[in-house]
Amino acid sequence: MSNNHVRIFDTTLRDGEQSPGATMTSAEKLEVAKALSRLGVDVIEAGFPAASPDDLRAVQNIAETVGAKLIDGRKREEPPIICGLARATEGDIRKAWEGVKPAARPRIHTFIATSPIHREYKLRMSREEVLAKIREMVSFAKSLCDDIEFSPEDAGRTEMDFLYEALAAAIEAGATTLNIPDTVGYTLPHEFGERIRLIHENVPGIDKAIVSVHCHNDLGLATANSLAGILNGARQVEVAINGIGERAGNTALEEIVMALETRKALLGLETGIDTPQLTRVSRLVSTVTGIPVQPNKAIVGANAFAHESGIHQDGMLKNQETYEIMRPETVGAEKTHLVLGKHSGKHALQNRLAELGYTLEGEALATAFERFKDLADKKKVITDADLIALFKDGLTEPKEHFRLVDLQVVCGSMGLPTATVRIVDDSGETHLGVNVGTGPVDAVFKAIDGIVGLPCTLLEYSVSSVTRGIDALGEVSVRIQPEQSPASVQQRINPQHGESARAPVYHGHGAETDIIVASAKAYLAALNRLLSASDRPAAALGVEA
Ligand code: KIV
Ligand code: ZN
Repeated sequence: MSNNHVRIFDTTLRDGEQSPGATMTSAEKLEVAKALSRLGVDVIEAGFPAASPDDLRAVQNIAETVGAKLIDGRKREEPPIICGLARATEGDIRKAWEGVKPAARPRIHTFIATSPIHREYKLRMSREEVLAKIREMVSFAKSLCDDIEFSPEDAGRTEMDFLYEALAAAIEAGATTLNIPDTVGYTLPHEFGERIRLIHENVPGIDKAIVSVHCHNDLGLATANSLAGILNGARQVEVAINGIGERAGNTALEEIVMALETRKALLGLETGIDTPQLTRVSRLVSTVTGIPVQPNKAIVGANAFAHESGIHQDGMLKNQETYEIMRPETVGAEKTHLVLGKHSGKHALQNRLAELGYTLEGEALATAFERFKDLADKKKVITDADLIALFKDGLTEPKEHFRLVDLQVVCGSMGLPTATVRIVDDSGETHLGVNVGTGPVDAVFKAIDGIVGLPCTLLEYSVSSVTRGIDALGEVSVRIQPEQSPASVQQRINPQHGESARAPVYHGHGAETDIIVASAKAYLAALNRLLSASDRPAAALGVEA
């Protein structure tokens, strides 16, 4: 591989999944991993196998399929490397190996904190003890797998002399990628760049390894810091789609890739990313995690290529380069165009979805087609964005414990907002619920609560329109937290801190021309997700007819 190639290591499924509430099902993780592979990422960090049996299975699933040389009937010489994270313990490393070993190109990524504050308060270990652990655990990982990545956690706040020793120990023990995390997003670009330069100059054996950077965005500097690292010789960058991740998130994949692409003449560096897929993958990740993309987000935000002011529009008409440093189609953000209509058939829908990157067959296709026809009756123009919004409903709902059949709302300024809902459960029984609320959505959610009987706190509710126009689809996202967590919902260990448990948050998504119906669907989707996580059939909840 040329020295101008910057490897893209995607951690959406690991660090990204550590965003509060971003938990994905195994099927969703596989869908995202397939999309990342098509996008052209070099390494997929598929998860943290020691966190739970589910995480382990999800990593194995990805290793067996996306990590194989043969995928969906296509043969590839170089499938992406599939990586699993492990703390520097034998147990974690064994689990990581169990997860990634079915892949054609497996990698174990092990880490231990090296900064004084982590050594003293979290690990209660001396420098010598940390060095001994690095030697022991990297050697152990190497005895299982050839490709080993080592990270000194909180490297951004580690003394440089100790950092050199820690990295040298890891290289000696067999690490071939040395990742430098700015775990708490503390450094400034010139400092972080300097750290990477000094590492190249002072760590014995560094020429045998690839230096990687992993920056968090607590000060909004993750992309700038990663670029500074690359300019100082790092040739792997750890990123997540839409910049999701712990706290303020990780470096956004799309920002790094487009910075390198747009300024290629200056930087002379390249990646293997097929940039026209960026917008689509961004939407997919937003859908499965339930984390919306802010409209002004660089590269993939809805407004990233929108020009509002008259002066800008005038300039654009005269020459697009006046206000555009990259073309929208370069990142797949083409202006929405009419694709299908009322008279299109199932095959046309299937083809268009395939072009958008979604493979739908059998029952899933039949359901999508039904919904498409339904929408085509209400809306003349069906765009790609509409299709994605429709399709992602199906993608994100693993099992429908409760399904909305009918909904009626009475509201306005002359009375109490009142909702009546008819819902069918997974045993086929129909339930009717009526309630009043402070507004129509509140009334609907209360009517649903009366049937489902799982009191939840609504943490977030957002509604947006998929396209412009009065007949646009309204997309609703909700995030809920059960007031009492169901006993069988596994509390997951946060790999960064080892011991703290995450309160479960569930998201749901609904898209309809009627936003109250979309709201009901989104709320039921979140409840279904909660029920799937706790594995309780609807009947066990004692629903009342
Ligand atoms: O931010 C961090 O330090 C990490 C490591 C596990 C690489 O995510
Ligand atoms: Zn991280």
